Amino acid sequence: MPNTPYLDNSVAWRIKSGTLEFKEAGYGSTVETILTSGLATDVIGLISAGKEADVYLGTYHDAPIAIKVYRLYRTSHRGGGPIKLDSTGWMAALEFELMRQAWKGGVRVPAPARRVENMFSLRYLGDEQGPSPRLQEIELSQPESFLRTILQGVEDLASAGVVHTDLSAYNILVHAGEPWFIDFSEALRVDRTGDVPWMRLEQARKALESGFFALQKYFNRYGLSIDAETRASQIVDRLDKHGVLR
Ligand SMILES: Nc1ncnc2c1ncn2[C@@H]1O[C@H](COP(=O)(O)OP(=O)(O)O)[C@@H](O)[C@H]1O
Ligand SMILES: [Mg+2]
Repeated sequence: MPNTPYLDNSVAWRIKSGTLEFKEAGYGSTVETILTSGLATDVIGLISAGKEADVYLGTYHDAPIAIKVYRLYRTSHRGGGPIKLDSTGWMAALEFELMRQAWKGGVRVPAPARRVENMFSLRYLGDEQGPSPRLQEIELSQPESFLRTILQGVEDLASAGVVHTDLSAYNILVHAGEPWFIDFSEALRVDRTGDVPWMRLEQARKALESGFFALQKYFNRYGLSIDAETRASQIVDRLDKHGVLR
């Protein structure tokens, strides 16, 4: 995975010659880009500003739509100048594809609509008042059945060939009384496990366990527990069609 940021020669040259300004695209120019890309016909505003991506609310011929825009540049952790994150277009592509795969598999995720470079549009979950809340911000009236629905959702995701690597009460939206999974950046594809299947499956196990632990943190308040290891193992066993881990 091209996940390490790097400076290609042309960028390095432009820094040296001082012809490259390192600024994140501002709100105005991002809106402009969204409109010219045709992902929306109107941009209403920013829903969320994240570490790697921003989410905008727009309309597409009067229907509301969400647009996720990955950042083009990111400041290096080690200090020094900002670096080009070559992988942002690629990250948007990965998230778009895996959301599509989950959606086609019947999992409750906002339907992805279209991708252009580092941006993609998807169904907006919310109403005129604003976006639907994250599970983290919600007090559930029937936590037990809600948890059951989430756990079934994780199973359904795996059946659709997708493992979420950042599952938590922050990446589940509560819309129309149901849990909706969002934020599939860096999700894992598990229907095709590549040349070294056990590696992907072990990654999947880790991701599943840490997702269940993160959910456990939220469900503690209701006195509900999730058997993270057992659940993760059951899913991985099912994914391990060729028995490479046995
Ligand atoms: N389809 C959507 N409809 C409404 N709000 C959304 C949608 N997708 C994301 N959001 C909002 O944007 C926030 C950030 O989105 P997310 O995909 O989790 O990006 P990040 O990588 O920044 O965490 C979410 O917590 C949610 O509030
Ligand atoms: Mg998120």
